[in-house]
Amino acid sequence: MTTRPLIYAANWKMNHGPEAAREFIERFIALTAPAAGRSLWFFPPAVSLAPVSHAARTRADILTGAQNVHWEPKGAYTGEVSIPMVQQAGAKTALVGHSERRHLFGETDDQVARKTAALLKAGLVPLVCVGETLAEREGGRTEHVIVRQLEPLLDKVPAAEWARLVIAYEPVWAIGTGRNATPDDAAQVHELIRFAVGRCGVPGRIPILYGGSVNAGNVLGLLARPELDGVLVGGASLDADGWAELVGLG
Ligand code: 13P
Repeated sequence: MTTRPLIYAANWKMNHGPEAAREFIERFIALTAPAAGRSLWFFPPAVSLAPVSHAARTRADILTGAQNVHWEPKGAYTGEVSIPMVQQAGAKTALVGHSERRHLFGETDDQVARKTAALLKAGLVPLVCVGETLAEREGGRTEHVIVRQLEPLLDKVPAAEWARLVIAYEPVWAIGTGRNATPDDAAQVHELIRFAVGRCGVPGRIPILYGGSVNAGNVLGLLARPELDGVLVGGASLDADGWAELVGLG
């Protein structure tokens, strides 16, 4: 369907402990073969990262990542997970600033920027999530919110380092609601993000994924838009057979 590289990212959120995660990935690997131009990224819960990385070690097209990290390498931060720890568990990437972290756990734009800078320093790929709430969209504030979320990042991450960063546009109103953004809605905001970072001197074209109620029925319509470089999927990535089918559609 497309010749640009595509990323299919599975965010399992708080699902699949170590045993279920290992079984999932073994089945998924049996159901899929590497495909040119397609990368498969998995974000299991922290305790399941090592078994998933281990089971996928023979598949260069599969990358594992953490759902969250702290910006400090170690210390008295009860309940947090450090970047060196997730690296030891095989992570090559990490989600930063997922809307559930921002809205349920109070993560700030500044913390998102600190985590992003720390990940880049350690050689991991930050997958930074941005997105507006329904009230913000309906109030005509989408652009303002996205730019506000990007600003501390643009401050803390030198323009040249943006080449190693991936953005996910996840409108909060589309996450887990069954109401996905239309391909036009998503493409419009992806362009807005590219414009905002380009204006700040970031060279090249940043890969941007779309997330929010993506499923087997809407993924092709979304990926038909060249502004999208892949998808970040929650609910529809939780079943190995269904996820293998979805990543095979494009
Ligand atoms: P859903 O695909 O369940 O809407 O979740 C999207 C998401 O938050 C991925 O990070």
